[in-house]
Amino acid sequence: MSKKILVLGGTAMLGAEIARTALSRGYDVTCVARGEKVPEGAILVRADRDEDDALESVAAQQWHAVYDVSRQPGHVQRAVRDLTNAGVYVFVSTFNVYAAQNEPGADESATLLEPLDADTEDPEDYGARKVACEQHVLEGFGPARSLIARSGLIGGPGDSSTRTGYWPMRFAVSDTVLVPDDAALPTQLVDVRDLAGWLVDAAENDSIRGVANVIGDPIPLGDHLDTARRVADHHGRVVAASRDWLVEQGVAEFAGPKSMPLWLSDPDWLAFMDRSNARAKKLGLRVRPLEQTLADVLEWERSEGFDRPRKAGLTTAEQDELLALLEG
Ligand SMILES: NC(=O)c1ccc[n+]([C@@H]2O[C@H](COP(=O)([O-])OP(=O)(O)OC[C@H]3O[C@@H](n4cnc5c(N)ncnc54)[C@H](OP(=O)(O)O)[C@@H]3O)[C@@H](O)[C@H]2O)c1
Repeated sequence: MSKKILVLGGTAMLGAEIARTALSRGYDVTCVARGEKVPEGAILVRADRDEDDALESVAAQQWHAVYDVSRQPGHVQRAVRDLTNAGVYVFVSTFNVYAAQNEPGADESATLLEPLDADTEDPEDYGARKVACEQHVLEGFGPARSLIARSGLIGGPGDSSTRTGYWPMRFAVSDTVLVPDDAALPTQLVDVRDLAGWLVDAAENDSIRGVANVIGDPIPLGDHLDTARRVADHHGRVVAASRDWLVEQGVAEFAGPKSMPLWLSDPDWLAFMDRSNARAKKLGLRVRPLEQTLADVLEWERSEGFDRPRKAGLTTAEQDELLALLEG
């Protein structure tokens, strides 16, 4: 009989990739979510984790490993209460739990935000809620039966935030591309397939426990853009604009509308994409070359349609307007 894995999630990018990876390794996979679409082969239990008894129908089963992607401390507290006999509880956390984002190379011992043990939808509280989630897992399962996987930017095919697909898409679409004149700034991401692969390794390998930053190696923004350009086979012009000029024009950093994804020059956030991944690598995390991630996300972007509305980056019209302004 194959071993059973429970994914609390499974309808979005990472949870679905965890489910797919576990299925490909022969596990029976059950996903709990409100949505309807989980990877083929997984069992879907539809439930709203805002409800106290959401996990009633899965609680009595023996789970080899549980994966939880929640952002709500109440969800995690109740899951830890209900799934006490799980072999290992893997909680996906975030670099947003750290109190400071300006210490290059900081590891898992860096100071955390004060926990916020309340369920809210406020993005400002995200990191503090994740700290509270981590605490519930550690209190319930202890470090020997849990993994707190703190991730930074997750990229690759299926990145609906459109951050990691922006630059390959932009170089594929535009002859002249506007970039930030900040080539030395760090960028750092993890391919969703590498992250999911390592998280599923934790189901069998009980040295993969405790707290770990799960992320690729830092790569200077200039090299990142060169890689995006190469995978898109771009031979046009690249025009660099200074930080001050971009800020003056209302261009945002990192994410969201009218932004330059992967560009983070705010001194308070300079090291958000420059964290130590030494512990996860020592425990077997393998990170594929950025070139492969960007080539695959470009293919995914193409299949989704380059001209669809995006959550991050400049539209082609915004970019061309900025280029006209900059170059007179
Ligand atoms: N994206 C990044 O770059 C990044 C960076 C660092 C860390 N992370 C972390 O990585 C993880 C990403 O996970 P993901 O891509 O699978 O998911 P996600 O985009 O965070 O979506 C949340 C998942 O939880 C489920 N969910 C939310 N509210 C629920 C409720 N009330 N009841 C039941 N299910 C609920 C959703 O399913 P339904 O909506 O179908 O219910 C969905 O499957 C998160 O833990 C995030 O904090 C992400």
